[in-house]
Amino acid sequence: MPTVAMVGAQWGDEGKGKVADVLSAEAAAMARFNGGNNAGHTVVIGGDKLVLRLVPVGILRPGVRCYLGRGCVVDPAYLLEELARLAALGVAVGGLKIDWHCHLILPYHVALDRAGDARLGRWRVGTTGRGIGPCYADRASRLGLRLADLYDEKQLGERLGALADRHAPTLAALGAQVDEGRVRDELLAAAPKIKPYGADVPPLVRGELAAGERVLLEGAHGLLLDLDWGTYPFVTSSTVHPAGAASSLGIPAAAITTVVGVVKAYQTRVGEGPMPTELADDVGARLQQRGNEVGATTGRPRRCGWLDLVLLKYAVETAGITHLALNKLDVLDGVSPLKVCVGYELGDKKWDRLAMPMDHLACAKPIYEELPAWQGQVAGARAYDRLPAGAKDYIRVVEEYVGVPAAFVSTGAGREDGFLRQALWP
Ligand code: GDP
Ligand code: IMO
Ligand code: MG
Repeated sequence: MPTVAMVGAQWGDEGKGKVADVLSAEAAAMARFNGGNNAGHTVVIGGDKLVLRLVPVGILRPGVRCYLGRGCVVDPAYLLEELARLAALGVAVGGLKIDWHCHLILPYHVALDRAGDARLGRWRVGTTGRGIGPCYADRASRLGLRLADLYDEKQLGERLGALADRHAPTLAALGAQVDEGRVRDELLAAAPKIKPYGADVPPLVRGELAAGERVLLEGAHGLLLDLDWGTYPFVTSSTVHPAGAASSLGIPAAAITTVVGVVKAYQTRVGEGPMPTELADDVGARLQQRGNEVGATTGRPRRCGWLDLVLLKYAVETAGITHLALNKLDVLDGVSPLKVCVGYELGDKKWDRLAMPMDHLACAKPIYEELPAWQGQVAGARAYDRLPAGAKDYIRVVEEYVGVPAAFVSTGAGREDGFLRQALWP
């Protein structure tokens, strides 16, 4: 049975929540493999909107078994809040399994993230302020606390002490304060509520694969925010690349046979960093307003612009994307003319692929191909043959440029808006 990994192919917020929700209808199990509560994955079911930041979207489908791999970072207080919010809606959360080795986001990380990023001047990343970067940094420094530490009070105290000591000078320099005793007490209070979810996740996921179950791997963020493959330093701190899913969950890389790249029909970005096709004019404002482009996690307005096919092709090639899920095509209804970026001008050179260091993107001038606006409406279409001819042309242009099919097309925020053009599981 193919294992499907779903990743963002832009700078996040492509509509992964929507696609994960649609695909989970066919899945037996689902695992999140990277990031923490910096993600915001929106699903709209029967007109009700729900944003999930940490728990896999499959939790909303009764019977789908849900896992968090060790590539994820967990803010204990936030986890309990999200689980309580879901339980209050009648969602069964008891079966969620979180890898014991997931690192914990602590108040130290949140304080360092917020005060640290604010001091970076023109190199400010514009993080979500959720402590993500400092938590992954402590993981790499072998200083971090993991879920497993909640099971041993003595070990927890020792490791917390070492972490607190290491960060004390930096926090003092930044004018931030964290009370070690309070952090310890809060962790000990949260421990009994979190421990029932802790598990040895890799054998469970391998068991799913061995039993031939349909497993959906849910990525957070987008490839252009990947620590290695994104627009560094304006990136997040985890591996967005689908290979990270194999490492996060302890499954063979070769088990992942299908990679769905979720892409918006235009481009958005929240936070700092280069974005060649950004539109500072009223067209950008129109996309922002029509697409309701406001960050699901921080409420910040998202920067908007034309679809960047050069960056999409880069994402497809780098991440081995086999299929696209093309989202928010309805937002382009009535937008005229339409443009897509098919190359860049940089000095006296022209490029039709990203054959330059990512840093140069800041100076790259997009080369656009203009496409005719379509007559008629994409919004709400539930079959390909319901689309206006111009919208079908738009899909074809995207597919031909990047060389993979748009297996799913989304035409509205609701669970029912859109259609699969190609089955991802036999
Ligand atoms: P994610 O982080 O990739 O899951 O995306 P977000 O949930 O942060 O942002 C996507 C936004 O677009 C959410 O408000 C979704 O409800 C909405 N959305 C998803 N698909 C569509 C679509 O096809 N059309 C429209 N109009 N909205 C969509
Ligand atoms: P989903 O999964 C959009 C961006 C932040 C910032 C940079 C680093 O909903 O698509 P961080 O807090 O991770 O250290 O911030 O990455 N960012 C996202 N942008 N969607 C996301 O997640 C994002 N997760 C992080 O805005 O620019
Ligand atoms: Mg989001």
